[in-house]
Amino acid sequence: MKMKATFSNPPAVAHALRCVRCGALSATPGPLFRCGQCAELLEVVYPEWSGAPPEFSLRLKEVWQARRGSSLPENASGVWRFRELLPQVESRNIVTMGEGNTPLVQLERMGHALHLGNLLAKHQGMNPTGSFKDTGISVAISIAKGEGFTSVCCASTGNTSASVAAYAARAAMKSIVLLPAGQVASGKLAQALEYGAHVLELRADFDGCLKILYEVAKKLSVYVLNSVNPYRLEGQKTVAFELMEQLDWKVPDHVIVPGGNLGNSSALGKGFLELRDLGLIATPPKISIIQAAGANPLVRTMREKAGRELVRVNPETRATAIRIGNPASWRKAVAVLEKTGGACEDVSEGEIAAAKAELGAEGVGCEPASAATLAGLKKLVRSGFVRHGETTVLILTGHMLKDVDYIMQARERCSGEPIEPDVAAVIRKLENINAGN
Ligand code: F0G
Repeated sequence: MKMKATFSNPPAVAHALRCVRCGALSATPGPLFRCGQCAELLEVVYPEWSGAPPEFSLRLKEVWQARRGSSLPENASGVWRFRELLPQVESRNIVTMGEGNTPLVQLERMGHALHLGNLLAKHQGMNPTGSFKDTGISVAISIAKGEGFTSVCCASTGNTSASVAAYAARAAMKSIVLLPAGQVASGKLAQALEYGAHVLELRADFDGCLKILYEVAKKLSVYVLNSVNPYRLEGQKTVAFELMEQLDWKVPDHVIVPGGNLGNSSALGKGFLELRDLGLIATPPKISIIQAAGANPLVRTMREKAGRELVRVNPETRATAIRIGNPASWRKAVAVLEKTGGACEDVSEGEIAAAKAELGAEGVGCEPASAATLAGLKKLVRSGFVRHGETTVLILTGHMLKDVDYIMQARERCSGEPIEPDVAAVIRKLENINAGN
């Protein structure tokens, strides 16, 4: 397709799937979206962008902004609003619930305490099912619908399963989710059940579930919605576009994201790098990835192998969303760290818990994995990587109510015995609290 020099709306362009290691193009990717030559993951590329006239980029901001006021579902969506930079999907196949459109909240007190110029939280937990997954699932399931699939599946630490179940229900598709038994926060499990997924709990961790899912997908005609699916990352990259709009296109110094299977950090980086390549920003922010110390394969890969070979670990953390030891997208994440100059850090269970409570105290709840970002930021400020006066954005990936058991266990100590329904008793109790007892 040749692009015209003048147009009212920038046209959508065709995409291709390219191997992130050997660069081979895959015309017909298999069910696991791996390169036919070297078995590495694929990414979506848009070859026609390189020949696009300057108007293509210039018009984008305007068109995206104008769509904000529209009630058409694909304009109201904080993902599909950016469809010029997404794979083309026919309007009737778009499965959307208005995902994206999440708030950017200032963390004034914390920013002040850390001597930052500005500290902001982009709350992806405010998506329809309470996590960032919805932005990616909306795109990938729309592709699946267009290809005629009627069943979708995933392995999950919880959030992907909730999102897959909800979007499949919207699209009248069957969903199958494999979960690590006993290791999924109850809010997430409840969502998958309520949305009607076939929930299978396996005696395995997430990595074990994903391995089984790959084998199942080779045998059954079910569409895989894990982040090995490159279309997932296309949806998730739109957070970069939305964030830049919210910042009036002033690039922050740092963006900090938690890392598990490493699809999200890869998507975030892809979004910013595409904006740079299209001339919409001059340079991307430094994207730093934070892992739990008990589930830190990327940190070890960077430290021990300079990012060249994956160091697998046996994962253990109470931030169950990121309890992952063999991340599928590690190569993509390493590339994001290298191309944006970001850091990779791990944080202890205590540091995650403290950061989560601090975010709560500022009125911004989130789930434990998301709080790893603030814990990581504190470490990066201490090491001097994040400097005083800089602007930093934390990507909060999941809603606080996903994992209330985590909070209740931490708070049990201070709840105490119930009080008699008596005014004097209540006032006495409040006086005790004020006195710090
Ligand atoms: N934060 C939350 C709340 C998550 O649910 C996940 C991943 C991550 C961070 C890490 O993102 O895997 O792209 O690096 N949850 C997946 C799931 C694994 O199954 O819900 P990632």
